[in-house]
Amino acid sequence: MYQADLLKGKTAFIAGGTSGINLSIAKGLASYGASVTVLGRDVSKAQAAADEVAANGSGKSAAETADVRDPDQVLKALQNARENFGKIDILISGAAGNFPAPALGISPKGFKTVVDIDLLGTYNVFHCGFEHLNQGASLIAITAPQAVVPMPYQAHVCAAKAGINMLIKCLALEWGPAGLRVNGISPGPIEETEGYERLAPNEQAKQQMVKQIPSRRAGTGNDIADAAIYLGSSLSSYVNGTILTVDGGTELGDASADCLSIPARK
Ligand code: NAP
Ligand code: COA
Repeated sequence: MYQADLLKGKTAFIAGGTSGINLSIAKGLASYGASVTVLGRDVSKAQAAADEVAANGSGKSAAETADVRDPDQVLKALQNARENFGKIDILISGAAGNFPAPALGISPKGFKTVVDIDLLGTYNVFHCGFEHLNQGASLIAITAPQAVVPMPYQAHVCAAKAGINMLIKCLALEWGPAGLRVNGISPGPIEETEGYERLAPNEQAKQQMVKQIPSRRAGTGNDIADAAIYLGSSLSSYVNGTILTVDGGTELGDASADCLSIPARK
């Protein structure tokens, strides 16, 4: 049943919500009535995203800038968001960095950069966010198949996202008794995003990637927004500490073998 006001009166804060998957989530939450703050590093990109979010919903929107690696900046942005719209009901950590490189081609600084944005950034957003949360708030971290599937050229991302998965479960365990829920969403390859472009930079690579996905298509931003609406709302009020995989079966393995070409049903 479609409930247009499912999130009416709720407030959301989305770190990394200024482009790609997280912007789709921001627009999805807004379309169900939430007031949404999006955060990124770039001021004009963040403002453009907030305008796009406002055009998609009945609630308000705002832009904040911070580097998630800096807890002082993150705290300030959260304080501003609370002053604007009140305590936060849905807190999402989705900022990330990725570049494909062999382990020997990643410098210690390069490895640290990705771990700092993804893992430390998620810790900063959730740790700084704690005091600004409403009773019953839902926290959602955006993780990735790399957390559980080792991939070449992704050692830094695999390590960072695996850390996020464990952080989700530890915080769910510790903060559940405080009336909070902490979950994750693990998207598969999502078309028209920076992350997808970086891992599949040309048409041939995209076709190869899609061929390996059991559902035989890349995901869309809306696929992930729907998962965030579920985890962010009362629809999932007894779901805590889980990672919701939304990847067309990507995590299960490579489905490109010819023997998997099933004849069409009559
Ligand atoms: P994207 O468009 O590049 O979005 C990244 C967001 O994070 C932007 O809003 C960016 O804004 C912000 N950001 C980056 N570094 C930051 C920092 N240090 N401090 C604050 N904000 C920062 O990425 P995407 O491809 O949509 O991916 C979004 C999320 O989904 C990520 O967590 C990614 O790991 C996950 N994911 C993506 C895919 C995929 O196919 N794309 C698949 C699985 C998982 P600024 O540039 O302005 O800072
Ligand atoms: N191969 C190897 N190392 C690389 C690299 C590549 N393709 N790209 C960056 N690095 C290294 C840099 O060389 C540097 O280390 P060094 O000084 O020892 O050489 C380190 O990573 C930090 O790079 P820098 O550009 O200073 O970091 P930054 O904080 O400005 O940017 C990134 C962080 C590199 C992750 C950048 O790509 C980014 O901001 N990404 C956000 C968007 C994104 O990745 N979206 C996809 C999400 S899935």
